[in-house]
Parts: sequence; structure tokens; C-alpha cells
Amino acid sequence: MGRYLTMNSLPPIPAGVVTLDDHETHARTTLDANAWAYFAGGAADEHTVRANADAWHDLQLLPRVLRPLAGGHTRITLLGRDLAHPILLAPVAYQRLAHPDGEIASALAASALQAGLVLSTQASTPLEDVARAFGNDPARGPLWFQLYLQPDRGFNRELVQRVEAAGYEALVLTVDAPCHGARDRERRAGFRLPPGIGAVNLKGLAAPATTSLRPGQSALFDGLLAHAPTWDDVAWLQSVTRLPVLLKGILHPDDARQAVALQAGGVIVSNHGGRTLDTAIATARALPRVAEAVHGELPVLVDGGIRRGTDVLKAMALGASAVLIGRPFVFGLANAGAHGVAHVLRLLRDELEIAMALAGCRTLADASPACLWTERRDDS
Ligand code: FNR
Ligand code: LAC
Repeated sequence: MGRYLTMNSLPPIPAGVVTLDDHETHARTTLDANAWAYFAGGAADEHTVRANADAWHDLQLLPRVLRPLAGGHTRITLLGRDLAHPILLAPVAYQRLAHPDGEIASALAASALQAGLVLSTQASTPLEDVARAFGNDPARGPLWFQLYLQPDRGFNRELVQRVEAAGYEALVLTVDAPCHGARDRERRAGFRLPPGIGAVNLKGLAAPATTSLRPGQSALFDGLLAHAPTWDDVAWLQSVTRLPVLLKGILHPDDARQAVALQAGGVIVSNHGGRTLDTAIATARALPRVAEAVHGELPVLVDGGIRRGTDVLKAMALGASAVLIGRPFVFGLANAGAHGVAHVLRLLRDELEIAMALAGCRTLADASPACLWTERRDDS
């Protein structure tokens, strides 16, 4: 743990930083060009990165007035647990690239702010250390582990056993990244992981056997993707764990229906923050049809471009059970370590309360499609 984590030496929040976007603007000055390209970037022309944020702005709230608001709160129930609010930290790889305290700082902040935490398979800190930092306070949010399945099933099984033993409460299988997107921004910047930062929880994983390709074979389809996970691997994963398995990266309602048929623990409507398939649909637009397809059978979470309390309220109104944020907390981490992540969570939660009060929602159960403006054919 770094020196930033003692109570009397908390680094200050930079002056003038009062929103999540302010954290992003400031982080551009605290991160070097290499780290900035990795954290801020998306795939190809980054249309989906922008579309995610724009789609939340494009939704307009239709507030109700004079409703009783006393006793209001942001509490929800998720996978059988009562939570103080619906905000989780999304899995983000290599957080020590943003700040020396990395995932430990994020865990301390999330725990203190009662937010959920999803640790990436590609975390730069051992998963047991993160679980310890997150602690066991009954008021803390959920602790989940994001899984990238490796071709070696024995390795996957052992990793899942470690995750279970460390006290993680659910697995989040990411299904939208069988390969990297076209990371043009990273390539332009010549992005490289600095020495000493890596996917420490994958230590011991044998390098994939190099297959020699026959003429006409594709290095992608016949190489890396020959072992890409399929629906059968989801069922296999469920058979080797007692934990619920949520699927992250669902956009199509038919895939959501398949998740219901497999009794997944939940689905996360996500396009990986626009880092995989550029021009994929914005998550705010995909969410309603996924929620409709799932029909309340499973929790539906959403991430991508959530930067304001009003975005969180809109997500809940469109049928989300909870939301995740990615880049904003990493920018908070870069700016002020654990204090910065806590600040980001505090801002978003305070904004959510303000948005609920001004929209006339005493609780998140009041957030429904009726809170959003829809054009009628006769509206011009
Ligand atoms: C990610 N994301 C991600 N997702 C995942 O399942 N495993 C991972 O290791 C990572 N790593 C990662 C690194 C970085 C730098 C970013 C920005 C994102 C995707 C992440 O969980 C989430 O879906 C998006 O970040 C949500 O979008 P916003 O909030 O960043 O707009
Ligand atoms: C990324 C991978 C690690 O988005 O999911 O960078």
C-alpha cells in the first residue's frame, strides 16, 4: 500500500474539480501520453465512445412535482443483497498504470463509499490483496470478479477456485471481447505496459501454443479465435462454480434471452466502453430492449458513458437494476488515488439524489419509463 492511503496524508482533490468530466480533464494533465491513450481511448474512430455519452444526454427527463419526498433513498436490492446505492466500479485492467496504489486504492474507496467492485482478470494487483482491502463490512457493496476465459480449462478452474476462496460473490464473464478492437489511438501513441505492471493474476498461464497456419487460413480466426468462448463454455463455467455468473457485453435481446435460458446470474448491457466494436449501438439505446427481453427474470446492469447522476436515474428508469462506471473512477484514481475514486463516487451519488428529488422520484422504484419524454406521433 502506498503512502497516499494514510488518513492524514490524503492528496487533495485538485481545485475546481467538481464533476466526473472535470476529473477527466484534469487526468489528462496527470497521466502520461502512454497511459492516457490506454485509459481514455476506444476502438477505431471512437464513435461508440462518444455515442454512449450522447445517448444519455439525448434522453430527456419528464419531472413530476409536489410529490412527497421525505424518507427518500437510493437503496436497491441486487442478487439478494440490500445495497446503499446502485453504483459499481466496472472492471478496468492495469490500474497501477493510473496510480501506484492501483486496485488497492479503488477497493478502499469503493468499500468506504458502499459501491460495488468488479475486479478485472487483468488487474495489476493480486486478487486476494484487493479482496482484503475491500474488507468485510456488512454495509459494503458487492465484490465480483470479471473473468476472461483462457483456452486452458484447468487454469480457468484454478482461477475460479482462487476467486471463490478469496470471498468474491459473483463472476462476471466478459463476452464482447474475443479479440481486441482496432485500438488505433493506442497504436498511434505506441502504447506499452511499463515494466513492473502486468496481469499478475494470470501468472503461470502457459503461452498459447503457436499453430502454424495453412495457406488461406486467418491468423485471427484460426489462431486466437479457435479457442474463443461460446455458449457451451458459459454452461461449463456454471458447472464448476457455486457463484452466479453474469454475462458482460450483451447488446442483442436474443443473447439476453439465451442468458435467461441458461439461468445466468444477470446480464450487463455493455459495449466495453466503446473499446471493442466501433459503431456498436450505444448502451442507453440497447438497454430497453434487453430489459424487455429479460422480463425481470435476471438483473440487468448497464455501463458506458455514465457521467452524471441524471444518467444513473435514466438507466434505472429504462429498466437497469444497477450501473457501472469505468473511466471516471480511473481518472479520479489518477488525480488523487483512493481519495479521487471516493470523490468520484460521492459526486455521482450526490447527483443521483438531486436528480431523483427534482424528477419526483422518492426511491429508485419510482424510476420508470414515465420519467422520460417520448415523442408522440402528433408532437411536432
Ligand atoms: C475496460 N473495460 C474492461 N472490461 C472488462 O470486462 N475487463 C477489463 O479488463 C476491462 N478493462 C478496461 C480497461 C480500460 C482502460 C477501460 C476504459 C475499460 C470495460 C469496462 O469494464 C466498462 O465496460 C467501460 O469502461 C464502461 O464505459 P465507461 O464508463 O468507461 O464509459
Ligand atoms: C481493455 C481490456 C483489458 O479494454 O478489456 O483494455
